[in-house]
Amino acid sequence: MKVLAISMGRKNQNCDIIAKQALMAAEKTGADVKFMNTMNMEISHCRGCGACSAGRDRGKQIRCILKDDYLTLENEVLEADGIILAAPVYSIAPTGQLVNFFGRFGAAHDLAAATEEQKRREKEGLEPLDPRLFKKHYIAYVSVGGAHTPNWVSMGLPNMYMFGMSTVMKTVGQINAYDMGQMTSPVFHPDFMEKVAGLGAHLAESIGKDFEDVTWYGEEGVCPVCHNNLISYTRGKGTEVECPLCGIYGQIAVEDGEVNVSFSEEEKQRARNTLAGLYEHYYEIKDMMNHVKKNLMLHKDDRAELLRPYMEYAPDYKG
Ligand SMILES: Cc1cc2nc3c(=O)[nH]c(=O)nc-3n(C[C@H](O)[C@H](O)[C@H](O)COP(=O)(O)O)c2cc1C
Repeated sequence: MKVLAISMGRKNQNCDIIAKQALMAAEKTGADVKFMNTMNMEISHCRGCGACSAGRDRGKQIRCILKDDYLTLENEVLEADGIILAAPVYSIAPTGQLVNFFGRFGAAHDLAAATEEQKRREKEGLEPLDPRLFKKHYIAYVSVGGAHTPNWVSMGLPNMYMFGMSTVMKTVGQINAYDMGQMTSPVFHPDFMEKVAGLGAHLAESIGKDFEDVTWYGEEGVCPVCHNNLISYTRGKGTEVECPLCGIYGQIAVEDGEVNVSFSEEEKQRARNTLAGLYEHYYEIKDMMNHVKKNLMLHKDDRAELLRPYMEYAPDYKG
């Protein structure tokens, strides 16, 4: 059982200490451990070129063609059974490096699309996709912020959740580690360090379990699936609310002065980080392609003319 701790913060600072504390606890349970600090890795953003999914559909392995350190981290993530991810909050959300990583990792490795492609390859006797895509991954998130209240880290944990979403990683727990400024160093706070160690041990002990049997470590959160506190409401939708991370709909009510949000079992089963949820999107994309073909045919004669003003208009930045 391999546990990888990733710190996206400064070397030897808060994320490093927290990630290592969780990793040490995982090691005590018998896990093989590895630590990575990614601060100086070059991980650029997705250019939307589509080479990864085009390659997948042509019988190749899923591989980003940008030449930087992304593939090194991707390889370690796929190799691990359990991942501890600690990322600093910059401007209420996780560091851009994390967003760059999952922009390239998530969609490319969408488990519904990969499952369908693997079935096709089996049927046609083609080289199978990397089997590490289909093994169970377990993950624990720690969002690390300097502000004294959670008010300035509101998008930290919710955004981190996207890291394991498209590959259906099982989140075993999370910690919202704000207040690092006044705390000065996490090592000055034994209770906090114990909580972090508990998360690392819980991650290691969860590895190999059926996802339904994994218990949650940390605060419960409003959404029963992702355990985050983001709930969105659209005017005119009555009492319907949505968890914007899981994409599931629920009902909001006020009972005895308390706000209560509930989600049906059916909705929980179609959350985005489940295979069923990903298949919903997979079929949506397939259907979208039919519309694209239809629209292109409809505009085959006037398409060039409609596009021309935008192709010719170029008040570009010249430095
Ligand atoms: C550019 C920048 C923006 C930051 N924005 C926030 C913020 O919005 N909220 C917050 O709580 N902390 C913020 N911080 C503080 C960091 O999250 C904090 O210092 C954290 O400990 C950094 O992780 P590290 O110690 O592992 O490097 C910011 C830090 C930097 C450098």
